[in-house]
This record gives sequence, C-alpha cells and structure tokens, in this order.
Amino acid sequence: MKTALVLNGPNLNLLGMREPAVYGAQTLADVESLCREACGAHGLALDFRQSNHEGVLVDWIHEAGQGHAAGTLAGVVLNAGAYTHTSIALHDAIKGTGVPVIELHISNVHAREAFRHHSYISPVARGVIVGLGVAGYALAIRALADL
Ligand code: DQA
Repeated sequence: MKTALVLNGPNLNLLGMREPAVYGAQTLADVESLCREACGAHGLALDFRQSNHEGVLVDWIHEAGQGHAAGTLAGVVLNAGAYTHTSIALHDAIKGTGVPVIELHISNVHAREAFRHHSYISPVARGVIVGLGVAGYALAIRALADL
C-alpha cells in the first residue's frame, strides 16, 4: 500500500480558531480524520504533518522525493499556507525531487488580497485545488490515488 503525505504549513495548526469566516470551523485534527477516511477509501496509507517552519517543509519534500523514487509514496498534498506566496525554496525542492504534489488551499486565494494571487508552488504542482474548503483535502487524496 502506498502512502499519501499531507503537509500543512504555517498557521494551519490554528484551524478552527483562525478566521473561521475564511477557513471554517473544522480543526486540523478534523482535517486529519477526513484525510484518513479518504485514504482508506482509496487504498492509501496516510502520513499527516504540520510545521510552521519553511526548512522543515523543505526537508519533508526531500523525504517524499525518496519515498516516491522507492515506490512507497503516491505523492504529496501540500497546503503551504503563506509560504505558497513567498517560498522559492519549496518551489526548488518540488522541482528538484520530482515528487508529485497537489497544491491545496482551503480558501479561494484568487478572491482575496492581491499578494495571495501568486503561487511559487503552482508551476511545479501536478494540480491545484483552491477554495473548496477542507473538503478539498479529500479531493486531493483522490487525485493522488488516480495518478
Ligand atoms: C491558505 C491560503 C494562504 O494564502 C494563507 O496564507 C494560508 C492558508 C488556504 O488554505 O486557504 O495560511 O493556504
């Protein structure tokens, strides 16, 4: 059984308390449960993580690249939070490892502030899911299963 790695970036540990009008009432633990159910439905194991640190996310993408090369990892669902809009390091890590990444945003970043309209992840992502709430995580896992 292959694994789906779901990576969450900065401030996503605050889900449920943070701007509920934008991100909804569900917590990161709720999102993990939703992902576990989606993985179960699609024959994948789940590895679910969150970090507020860019370098940690880079290290995890490198680890994912090794797992993908070894045939044990289906790919990554990445909600990089604000690093989406700033991180050339994450762009380079995804490009450098070649690991398939589905970029995910809970909110519709294109309907928000202009600084959220540019993504360093999109050009190196296999696909992008934006603005469908936390339900987008299940759709992203399905997409990984179908790759
Ligand atoms: C986000 C959108 C980003 O612009 C923001 O910085 C986040 C969350 C989302 O899931 O909608 O932290 O990635």
